[in-house]
Amino acid sequence: MKKPDTILILDFGGQYCHLIARRIRQEKVFSHIVSPEIGLKEIEKLKEKLNIKGVIFSGGPFSVYEKRAIRCKKEILNLNLPILGICYGHQLLAFLFGGKIKAGKVKEYGIVEVKIRKKKGILRGLKNKEKVLMSHKDKVESLPKDFEVLASTEATEISAFSHKSKPIFGVQWHPEVSHTRNGQKIFKNFLFEICKCKRNWKIEEIIEKVIEEIRETVGKEKAIIALSGGIDSSTSALLGTEAIGENLTAVFVDHGFLREGEPEAVRKFFEKQKINFVFQNERERFLKKLKGIISPERKRKIIGREFIRVFEGVAQKIKAKYLIQGTIYPDRIESGIRKFSEKIKTHHNVGGIPSKIRFKKIIEPLRELYKDEVREIAKKLGLKEEILSRQPFPGPGLAIRIIGAVDERKIRILKKADKIIQEEIEKTDFKKKLWQYFPVFLDLKTTGIKGDKRAVGYVIALRAVESEEAMTADFAKLPYALLEKISHRITNEIPQIMRVVYDITSKPPATIEWE
Ligand code: XMP
Repeated sequence: MKKPDTILILDFGGQYCHLIARRIRQEKVFSHIVSPEIGLKEIEKLKEKLNIKGVIFSGGPFSVYEKRAIRCKKEILNLNLPILGICYGHQLLAFLFGGKIKAGKVKEYGIVEVKIRKKKGILRGLKNKEKVLMSHKDKVESLPKDFEVLASTEATEISAFSHKSKPIFGVQWHPEVSHTRNGQKIFKNFLFEICKCKRNWKIEEIIEKVIEEIRETVGKEKAIIALSGGIDSSTSALLGTEAIGENLTAVFVDHGFLREGEPEAVRKFFEKQKINFVFQNERERFLKKLKGIISPERKRKIIGREFIRVFEGVAQKIKAKYLIQGTIYPDRIESGIRKFSEKIKTHHNVGGIPSKIRFKKIIEPLRELYKDEVREIAKKLGLKEEILSRQPFPGPGLAIRIIGAVDERKIRILKKADKIIQEEIEKTDFKKKLWQYFPVFLDLKTTGIKGDKRAVGYVIALRAVESEEAMTADFAKLPYALLEKISHRITNEIPQIMRVVYDITSKPPATIEWE
């Protein structure tokens, strides 16, 4: 196989590191994430398979002067390859070449206007002023010799820089997030103008690689796949079937926290497919284990553990040794799986896995991918529209959409509210535009009037967001008439609900799910 043109990304632990990889692959150029402490020897080894054309330093949670701060080996700077530093990577590059970094007290955070002072190098073709996402405290105070400033904001004079004669660049903002409107242009400049990459990488190569990996790992033994009926696990099931055929069994666990009609729909769909399918009704078990649990992290951990125990039980019966899961990259990144990153929340299928399990190995074929890449693979594999168009749904389900302790009554209320929201939004074009839309049950009693009498009832919060990859999201600007209709129906059709509120927070600072 021909070596693909590749950009190496040194992962300093920033929340958006993988998004950088995603943005590059979007341009059909391969990107490979490596430890920030990688040395020349390992790079030489990588070169046997990859045509390395440039290096990116990601963001990270450090200050360059901190003791615990992770720095790369200085030899990386002498590889004679173009380098782009982003956020912490920008500060680190300036620092390693002899510049000064100032420990900031005030955070420059959010969407900021940056003045492009020199439209060259990575900033070629940008407008005089650009909107970018900033998230930093420290900043580059003075540049090393032979470097120049390319862009400034009001708070940060050195917001972007370049070496005067070498292809070395830094940007303080995050070109990889969709909030930075012309971020992709910066990557295109870096890839094609600076690194001279060719577009010679295809998604089909991931499909081949993943099938091969499953085949090699499982060999002639049996595996089960944890199937939720969502796009990630359904795609993993198709890849697993391609790889090991009959030796794969799909297991669907109904934990009782699914949407109205969902378990039945999944069952109906998968019983028709050419795949061994097992349906496990475990509603009582999960409810019992969650009784009285309030902490979101505890809920996630308990659900993760019980899932695994159910899968172990099925695996033992059919003598399967491996468990395949549809975990995608954002699930892992928020669970803090990387060496230098911070934990946001435990996604049930990642951090919720108990330390002792009765499987030889858990295989996560989609672990490096984003949702839209999974969608592309799913389409190539011929997955049906009814699954392709499904909204993402968290593994712990409605249990993390009930704030406070979970019980059957609250689940019933939430399912009704969910159905109303789905019905009303699906009547409009927002169905296609929105990433997710759902209710959250708030364990709060508020006052109101019903039929001339004082009444007390709970609160439903409506969450509807637009997003490209769930790493960032904007609350949807739904029309008042639609909000009114939803509120009217919920308060009329569900007597226990007294109030409906609309969540107008974006991610960051909030996450999409409330827990
Ligand atoms: P947050 O709430 O972290 O959600 O902004 C990002 C995306 O991930 C989904 N999500 C999960 N998916 N297991 C999953 O498979 C989980 O534990 C989990 N928690 C959140 C969420 O619905 C959103 O699409």
